[in-house]
Amino acid sequence: MPAQTPRFSRRAGRIKISATKLMPMLAAEVGGCVSLGQGVPSFATPGFVADAVCDALRRDPAAGKYSLQPGLPALRRAVAGLFAREKGLTADPDSEILISVGAMEALLAAMLVLVDEGDEVIVPAPYYPSHVEQVLLSGGRPVFAPLRPDFSLDPGAVARAVTEKTRAVIITSPHNPTGAVFAEADLRAVAEIAVAHDLTVICDDTYDSLSYDAPATSLAMFPELRERMVAVGSFSKRFALTGWRVGYAFAPRPIMDQMLKVHDCAAICAPMPGQIAALAALTGPQDVFAGFAAALSARRDLACRRLDALSGHLSYVRPAGAFYIMARYRGDAPPMDMAVRLIREAHVITIPGDAFGPGGEQSLRLSFGADEAELTEAFDRLDRFFGK
Ligand SMILES: Cc1ncc(COP(=O)(O)O)c(C=O)c1O
Repeated sequence: MPAQTPRFSRRAGRIKISATKLMPMLAAEVGGCVSLGQGVPSFATPGFVADAVCDALRRDPAAGKYSLQPGLPALRRAVAGLFAREKGLTADPDSEILISVGAMEALLAAMLVLVDEGDEVIVPAPYYPSHVEQVLLSGGRPVFAPLRPDFSLDPGAVARAVTEKTRAVIITSPHNPTGAVFAEADLRAVAEIAVAHDLTVICDDTYDSLSYDAPATSLAMFPELRERMVAVGSFSKRFALTGWRVGYAFAPRPIMDQMLKVHDCAAICAPMPGQIAALAALTGPQDVFAGFAAALSARRDLACRRLDALSGHLSYVRPAGAFYIMARYRGDAPPMDMAVRLIREAHVITIPGDAFGPGGEQSLRLSFGADEAELTEAFDRLDRFFGK
C-alpha cells in the first residue's frame, strides 16, 4: 500500500501554537534558563486546598467521577455568589453558570456559539493570542482595535472597527500582554458601542483580582450588557491553580444553553478534583490569596526598578495589573530573533512581542509571575547581556 498523505481540515490550518508555549520548549533544549516568559504565578497549591481534594478522594467515591455536566452545584452557587459580591451581577447558578476546563474552554465555547464563518470579532491589540486563535478556529475574522500608546483601551478604535459583520468584541482587563487595567470611562464607551451595534461582549476577567493600584472595573458590572454578554473567570491566576484546569462563565440562558452543548462535546465536565480544589479555594480563608496578590504587587515593583536601571536599552509602560510588562527594545531586530538570542546567550526566557499582534513590534513580553529569586537572577542576566 502506498503511504497515504493525511489530510487536515482548513480549520486546523488556520491556527497555530502560540509563542508563549514555544519559547519554553526552545529553552528546554538550551537548558539552564530562568523565565520571564511564563503566564504562571509561582505559588504552590495552598495546603488547605490540597487537603480538601485528598480528603474528598479518600472518603467520597464520587470525587473521582464526572460531575454534573455544567459543574458541581455547590461550586456554581459559590461562583454566582462571587459574581454578585464583586460585580453586582445576579446569575441563576442552575441555568446561567458553567464550570469549565479553565477560562480557556469557556472562551472557546462562547466563540463557537457566537461566531459563524465570516463573522468579525473585535480584539483590542496587542492581544492574548488564544483569543485570536479561537476566533479563527470558529471561522471568524479577528479585527484589531489598537490600544493607545500607553496601552489604554481606545473606544474610538473599537468604534472604527465595527462593520455590518461584527458579531462580538472581546475585552480582557487587567490585560495580557500589557498589564494595563482599562479605565471605567473607556469600558463604558465600549459598552455603549456594543449596545448601539447589537454586539455580544466577551468579557475575559482571568486577572480580575490582580489590579494593584485600584480595583479593576469589569464589563460584567454594566447591567445594560447582561443579556448580551459572556463573562469568563478563572481559578488559575487568582488562586494559583493553573494546573487544576478550572474556570467558569456566566451567560444569559439562551447563550448558555448553546455553550453547554459545546462543553458537552469538548469536555463533558471540568475535572472533578479541580472543581473540589476550586470550591475549597473560593469558600476557604482568603488571606492566603490576598497574600499572592500582595506578593505579585511587590514583584511588579521589583521588575519595574530593574527595568528602570536598563532604561538605555528597554522602555516600558508601568503595568497596573496582571503580571506582564511589554518592554520595548532599541533597534529593529525582529522580536523572535531578540527572544531567541536572550535564550541562547543570556539564558532568559521572554516572549516575542509580535506574537501578541500589532503593538508588540520591537517588544518582548516579560512576566513577573516568577518568585523574587528567579526574577532577580533573570534581571541580573539581562544586565550582563545588555551591558556586553
Ligand atoms: C487573558 C487570558 N485569558 C485566559 C487564559 C486562560 O486561563 P485558564 O488557565 O483559566 O484557562 C489566560 C492564561 O494565561 C489569559 O492570559
